[in-house]
Amino acid sequence: MNYNNLSRKHYQQYKTLVDSNITEVFFCDFIDNILNSDHKIIILEDDEENIIGSGTILIEKKLTYGGCNMGHIENILIDEKYRGNGYGEKIVNKLLEMCKEKKCYRVDLNCKSELEHFYQKNGFDTKNICMNMYFKEYFN
Ligand SMILES: CC(C)(COP(=O)(O)OP(=O)(O)OC[C@H]1O[C@@H](n2cnc3c(N)ncnc32)[C@H](O)[C@@H]1OP(=O)(O)O)[C@@H](O)C(=O)NCCC(=O)NCCS
Repeated sequence: MNYNNLSRKHYQQYKTLVDSNITEVFFCDFIDNILNSDHKIIILEDDEENIIGSGTILIEKKLTYGGCNMGHIENILIDEKYRGNGYGEKIVNKLLEMCKEKKCYRVDLNCKSELEHFYQKNGFDTKNICMNMYFKEYFN
């Protein structure tokens, strides 16, 4: 098992994992021009390089709190056939390690209420509420 940064070669597998209609051109442009040291998508692969799951980390540099960093975890997703084997926990812990390396003072994520237990089990506390506003005209 290995952690890797998402790269161009993962197009087909990642598209299937996230059930997305993105084109290869869009995907490669995203890899080349959007992802960077503060915006990473990591994947966990088995020994045959099959993607087990994935997670996104964003590091926000703040002007508040003395100018420290804050982490945002997004899109934790485990391939259905691998669920319930601790891989989600592994990916969350890997992203938390990355937040610590970046000296984040805090890490936030939003999730469905049914996943409260999963994230609490992985060290998160339920605090505050999450507010959303959708601009449906920009949703693909
Ligand atoms: C949520 C998800 C990432 C968990 O990954 P996983 O590898 O299956 O989870 P783990 O094996 O590490 O952890 C299992 C624990 O989480 C809980 N859990 C996992 N998925 C759950 C779900 N959908 N609903 C409720 N609890 C869930 C299990 O009850 C279990 O708890 P227990 O050990 O106390 O019984 C995975 O189910 C998934 O990809 N779901 C679909 C995408 C999604 O909802 N992502 C989260 C976005 S915030």
